[in-house]
Order: sequence, then structure tokens, then C-alpha cells
Amino acid sequence: MLIQENVNLKKFNTFHISTLAKYFCEVLSVEDLLEALAFCQEKNLPFILIGQGSNLLFRQNYTGLIIELNIKGIELVKTTTEHFYVKAQCGENWHSFVQYCLGHGYYGLENLSLIPGTVGAAPVQNIGAYGVEISEFLHELEALEISSGKLLTFSKDECQLSYRHSIFKADWKDRFVITNVTFKLLKTAQPNLSYPALRDALKDLAEDKVDPQTISNAVCNIRMSKLPDPASLGNAGSFFWNPIIPAEKFLSLQQIYPDIVAYPHEEGYKLAAAWLIDKAGWKGYREGDVGVHKEHALVLVNFGEATGKELYDLSVRIQQSVLEIFGIKLHPEVRII
Ligand code: EPU
Repeated sequence: MLIQENVNLKKFNTFHISTLAKYFCEVLSVEDLLEALAFCQEKNLPFILIGQGSNLLFRQNYTGLIIELNIKGIELVKTTTEHFYVKAQCGENWHSFVQYCLGHGYYGLENLSLIPGTVGAAPVQNIGAYGVEISEFLHELEALEISSGKLLTFSKDECQLSYRHSIFKADWKDRFVITNVTFKLLKTAQPNLSYPALRDALKDLAEDKVDPQTISNAVCNIRMSKLPDPASLGNAGSFFWNPIIPAEKFLSLQQIYPDIVAYPHEEGYKLAAAWLIDKAGWKGYREGDVGVHKEHALVLVNFGEATGKELYDLSVRIQQSVLEIFGIKLHPEVRII
């Protein structure tokens, strides 16, 4: 395995920020991964694991090792009367995996079409969209414990998945590398049209015509109409989490802003951060090469040669303005380095 020096990360992060990594390597197997980790231990270097860099913002050059996880492979490991158990290696592209499953008649992931990133990154933030989170279909995953080099298996419950969250972002942060994920997928499709925008897009179709491929196509169309394609415009999807607030706080905001967008969530409400940012006047804002997407206020964009610091500074200004107007603190969903 080759460890390169002074590598520009522009094509390894979907914001397309030009920044240098002191060391960079691509790992194609668990053996490569162990070698990369040993290199860091020997040189006492920090490291960052990346898939497709779709949730990262580099504010400065990185002095450690960037490890690009590119371990590939998909296999059907078990079939029962109702389910297919499908194992995918961490470096598989998420959307290609979803399409592979649809093509083989393994159902459930169709609402999660076109999410950028890799299979291995998906459980870390329990990716979710259009009414589905992977927690519904995750069976177990395998992870390499960095301190011991051992491969361990964790059940879905052990991963402690919730909205954009897992134990790998909390107590077990930086302790494991997820090497593969096994999904428990459906033999018989069960369309999930709970998300209003998706239901709307399919409202003219008869119920028996709403098959998983149709749902996947509809999700792709919605995403393409609102979210910029990182291949042509640098971005990392939603920059902030949708804030979850207590019911009383929501009800008092609703008095002032009757059109505020929110969904009941556990004891409180989950607000649409996009609505807050939009209402605060940021949608379509541009200054130099940084800005807020004109179709979606939750998406910060690099129009060309923006630096990570410029994007970060814009995100702080947005946070301050939302805090001043609504008294709500937004938290970045994107990992800031
Ligand atoms: N809205 C505005 N202004 C805008 C955009 C949206 O007011 O510029 C309002 C709309 O009224 C809409 C509401 O905000 O009803 C929610 O918008 P949207 O349906 O686009 O969803 P979101 O809450 O902004 C979340 C996820 C997305 C995911 C969509 C669909 C988070 C942080 N983001 O966005 O995930 O695709 O729901 O399920 O939970 C990502 O994580 O990168 C991502 C794109």
C-alpha cells in the first residue's frame, strides 16, 4: 500500500476545498487498513478516515494521514421467508448499493437513493431521508477496533442509532473503523410514503404502480431538483442538523411564526433548519465564492475557489443570525476539521 505525501484533497471532499494532507493513502483491504494504522502509531500521527468526503469541511491543511476506505464487495449472506441479509463492504458507494439491492429485489432502502457517501459511513450518522433511516434495515456491522486491531461484530441495538446519531459519534468516537455492514432487507416491498414531498410527487399514480424503483426514481428527482450535485457545485448536503426543541418552545415560536415548519419528535418537535435559515434571509446569499444554495437554505456551497475557512465563517454567521432571531442554536451536521 502506497502512502503519498502532500496530497491535495480537492477531489476527496464534496465541498471541493483545496487543502493539503501531509500523508494520504487508499486502503483496499483490512490488511491495508492495519498497515495504515501502524504507520500512524509509529510516527505518532493523527488520522482521518474518509469514504467519499461528503460530510467534511477542511478549514486548514491536515498534518496527519488521510485514509481513504475503498474496501469493496457485496454478498447475500442469508435468506429467510421474509428477508434477505445483504452484506456490503465499507467502501461501496451508497447509491450504487441501493440500486444493486433494487435490481436484485432486496427492498427497503429505496427512499435513501442518491445520498452521497459510502456504506461504511452510513451507520455513523444513521443516514436518513424521505421518511426512512438506515436504522430500520441495519442488522449488524463489523468494525475494527483501532487499539487492538481486532474485528468485532455489533448488533443494531449496540450501535445506538437515533436521528443523525450513533455510538460511533459518541462514546466510541475514534475507537472503531466500520469495515462492513449487513442489512436485513425485505422480500416483499412495503412502500413508505410517509414523507409529504414524496407522497405529493407520487399522488397521481395508482397504489399498485408505486413499486420500489418508482419510489427510488421519485426520490432522485426530488433530490436533483433541490439539492445541488456535488460533482458540479461543491457542497455537503445539509450543513446543520434539524434542531429538536421542547414542545413549549415550539408553541411559543408558532405564536409568532404560524408558518414555521416542524414535525413532532419524541417529547418535543424537530424544526426544519432550512425554514429558519430561509426566514432569516440567507437563501440564495452569495459572497465571493461561498453562499447558500438558491433552492435549499440548508445547503452551503462553494461556487469555485472558496476556502474552508470562508465556508466555516459563513456557517458561524448563519448560526448567529438564527440564534438572534429565533433563540435556537444550530449545530453543524458536517464534520469540521
Ligand atoms: N424549507 C424552507 N426553505 C428551503 C428549504 C426547505 O423553508 O430553502 C422548508 C420546507 O418547507 C420543507 C422543510 O423545510 O418542508 C424541510 O425541507 P426538506 O424536505 O428539503 O428536508 P430537510 O429537513 O431540509 C432533511 C435531511 C436531508 C434529507 C431530507 C429529506 C437533515 C439535516 N436533513 O432535510 O438530508 O434529504 O430531510 O428527508 O435531517 C443531508 O443530511 O445531507 C440531507 C440532505
